[in-house]
Amino acid sequence: MESTDEICRLEMKTDFKRLEEQAHWAGLQKGMDVLDVGCGSGITTSFLSRITGPSGKVTGIDASRDRIMHALQTYTDEGIRFIQKDIYSDTTDIGTFDFIWVRFFLEYHRSKSSEIVRNLTNHLNPGGILCLIDLDYNTLTHYELSPALNDSITGIMKILQEKNDFDPYAGRKLYSYLYDTGMKNIKVTLQPHHLIYGELSKTDAFNWSQKVIVAAKNSGYAFPLYHDGWDGFYKEFQDFFTSPRRFTYTPLIACRGMKG
Ligand SMILES: C[S@@+](CC[C@H](N)C(=O)[O-])C[C@H]1O[C@@H](n2cnc3c(N)ncnc32)[C@H](O)[C@@H]1O
Repeated sequence: MESTDEICRLEMKTDFKRLEEQAHWAGLQKGMDVLDVGCGSGITTSFLSRITGPSGKVTGIDASRDRIMHALQTYTDEGIRFIQKDIYSDTTDIGTFDFIWVRFFLEYHRSKSSEIVRNLTNHLNPGGILCLIDLDYNTLTHYELSPALNDSITGIMKILQEKNDFDPYAGRKLYSYLYDTGMKNIKVTLQPHHLIYGELSKTDAFNWSQKVIVAAKNSGYAFPLYHDGWDGFYKEFQDFFTSPRRFTYTPLIACRGMKG
């Protein structure tokens, strides 16, 4: 994930209207003090800060130095701060918040997700809201894949789960994590994150090329079903994905709960 292209992908795919709907649904209001966990390029943090307004504050944390540097240079509005911080390090110094936003983050921490959620509740003020948003069946729902494409995508994801602690099924776990921490007023919603059919948009073309390239590279998968390995796989995937016959969807699950 450490590349300029990944910063670009995060910025291109982030849509203010969708984020605003999700944040309002979760209970984000003007004047709140917010923590954005795994803030990436900082674009989500800046969008959250538009909602909390001049009387609010938003802190974005991310382990990646490049992304925090990019965020610090790009999003300089008053009330926003960015801190380079690994969630596994001591986080006591970041303080406590009215609202914690954790979107597309737990999917990178399959074996530690519930522990991360538990620790984040220590950073909530009484009555504070924890909002968890992630995908389910991430990258696994396409029609109609050839047997070789299907085996390869499943193979890549299997390695990423075991080797990189990636979780393509993060979405379905969020409710239970909030339940386990004793959160009150838990609400859950399910929406299509990707719903792709017909002609491919430029944003989806770029987003999915990056997703496939980064996932395949990180997994080290050998593509045994293609005599020319990665090249053969990628060409077939591109042919499939750019065809207007292709159907792709990914469910997004959002959960929010309140600290009692
Ligand atoms: C997909 S991006 C999330 C983007 C953003 N949250 C959004 O809603 O669009 C995931 C981010 O989590 C960060 N990250 C992954 N592991 C982390 C860790 N252990 N501590 C802090 N940040 C981490 C990555 O550097 C990356 O920028």
